[in-house]
Amino acid sequence: MIRSFPFRLLSIALLLCVIQEDLFGRGAFHPKFAMTISEYHEMVETLPFEVQARIIRDPGHFLDLTAAVLESDILLVRHIDRSNGLSPDYTPNDLVRLREVAPDVPVYASDDRLIESAANALLALVRSAADDGIHLAVSSGFRDYPTQEDVYADHITRFGFRSTVQLVAPPGHSEHQLGTTVDFYPVGRRFNDSPQDRWLNEHAGRYGFSMSYPPDLEHITGYLHESWHYRYLGLPAIHLRDRFFGGVQFHLTEFFHRHGDFLQQVLRQ
Ligand code: DAL
Ligand code: ZN
Repeated sequence: MIRSFPFRLLSIALLLCVIQEDLFGRGAFHPKFAMTISEYHEMVETLPFEVQARIIRDPGHFLDLTAAVLESDILLVRHIDRSNGLSPDYTPNDLVRLREVAPDVPVYASDDRLIESAANALLALVRSAADDGIHLAVSSGFRDYPTQEDVYADHITRFGFRSTVQLVAPPGHSEHQLGTTVDFYPVGRRFNDSPQDRWLNEHAGRYGFSMSYPPDLEHITGYLHESWHYRYLGLPAIHLRDRFFGGVQFHLTEFFHRHGDFLQQVLRQ
């Protein structure tokens, strides 16, 4: 039987789709992810241009590190900003008292807490700083919703609304509620360019910690530079941040905010 031209065209198109899916599709693009090339490109297109360029050059390494982040603890990269927050009753379930698990870390409040992985990493960081002659102390760790309400209201009373908006997250929008974040002592401009600030700038990443509000990124993060505020992201996320996201934590967490659910669906267990 002689087949019509449109039918032949359709058959060829289908054949090409099967070949493309077979060569580059869900089976073979990256061993960790059941994802097609076009899904990969759609995901990458949402990123800042310079980040896209790095990712397109090295997709294998990018997806290796992405898989490592998803396989550790996705809450570590939870995106928190003025528009994306946590519910008032959100409390991490593995908070530990720093006094108990990290007794050599000086704390301002005796019941200062962090989640366990962050507390252990903080202990390693503080010990390493001490070996270099740098004394680090914690001003504030986990803050629940009501505590952040108090911090916010207190700052307004003492410094006014303008300063509060620039430096304090509204309740439900603070990384401190994640239980992964510390303010080192002393909080405020006095910390800028101190030996502690310089040491953390150079070494915090080695222990999985990230400065959330770097200088000159206020237009992205929404907050003035906070040299004392560090968040534990874990090592895979730090590598991903530095290799592909230009060292900017905000871009990294926003990426997981947009695509984390999809990536978890297509991640091979
Ligand atoms: N100072 C930061 C933005 C906070 O309040 O969480
Ligand atoms: Zn802070």
